[in-house]
Amino acid sequence: MNSYIVTGGAGFIGSSLVRALLGRGAERVTVIDNFFSGRERNLDEVRDRVELHRADIRRYEEIAPLFRGAGVVFHLAAIPSVPRSISEPVPSHQVNIDGTFNVLRACAEAGVGRVVYAASSSAYGGSDVLPKVETMPPDPKSPYAVQKLAGEYYAHVFASCFELETVSLRYFNVYGPRQDPSSPYSGVISVFMKCLLDRVPPRIFGDGEQSRDFTYVEDVAALTVKAARAPGVSGRLYNGGSGGRYTLNQVWKILQEIEGVEIPARHGPPRAGDVRHSQADTAAAARDLGHAPSFNLEEGLRRTLTWYREDR
Ligand code: UD1
Repeated sequence: MNSYIVTGGAGFIGSSLVRALLGRGAERVTVIDNFFSGRERNLDEVRDRVELHRADIRRYEEIAPLFRGAGVVFHLAAIPSVPRSISEPVPSHQVNIDGTFNVLRACAEAGVGRVVYAASSSAYGGSDVLPKVETMPPDPKSPYAVQKLAGEYYAHVFASCFELETVSLRYFNVYGPRQDPSSPYSGVISVFMKCLLDRVPPRIFGDGEQSRDFTYVEDVAALTVKAARAPGVSGRLYNGGSGGRYTLNQVWKILQEIEGVEIPARHGPPRAGDVRHSQADTAAAARDLGHAPSFNLEEGLRRTLTWYREDR
């Protein structure tokens, strides 16, 4: 099983997954990316071991031939943002639902061994029950959550109706090196990193007491590789989280302490579509995929901060 394809492989999580595959015995990895948010420089030091195709998953004819002969396809290409799915719902829908359907269809027709699909913790939505267990009914609160959930359902159905092995992983608020802080839709930790190094206050939407299971990107990549290899899990869904939970106020406090600065955050109104709390139950991923996260939040934040500092 050595022919790996990563859609969205030039993106933040995808490029970390490419490194994880190369570091675990893959000789080469194929990347499909349209460079909407991905960057070739995200693959810099592994570029000579990556076969890179600029292609858009919205165009079936363009991508279908690329999947022939693949053992495992990791489908990470997406427009990954809750607020963006509200302000720009059409491209978000087209990439996250139609594009995912195209990838699954192309993989089934190409006889791919397994697809690992990057789903989202946003599917759990608003319920107060914590931690979130895979058996809970979904409760999407935003177009993005609906889109990622539809992808899961499709992945599940492709496993039962089209004999394509699929595994879905609900990623929980992933952070780490190479996350782009420059867009209005950037993940909160990348924004915090930039503010910290620029010595400017971040803007926190709401009171900052909302909490997330912030998950270090290398842990997510390791889990994703395991999902490709574990036997007997086709058609299933697993949380990809660390199992912890921190409020935004706590994260900003830890970062100030690491850096030895005091920069009070500014607070604005709450953000539409936001869920209040999120935390993964990691028991199923541990049991079936043999996964155990290696990085606690402080360690992950320190590594991330070092990367942002050196990247300047
Ligand atoms: C959601 C999903 C996550 C998914 C991600 C894709 C949940 C629980 N999580 O993340 O699985 O991968 O979408 O984008 O649904 N915030 C600020 N200031 C900022 C930016 C954000 O206060 O400058 C706040 C947001 O309002 C939110 C929290 O930080 O409360 C996290 O936001 P963000 O990083 O955008 O991720 P989620 O929307 O939680």
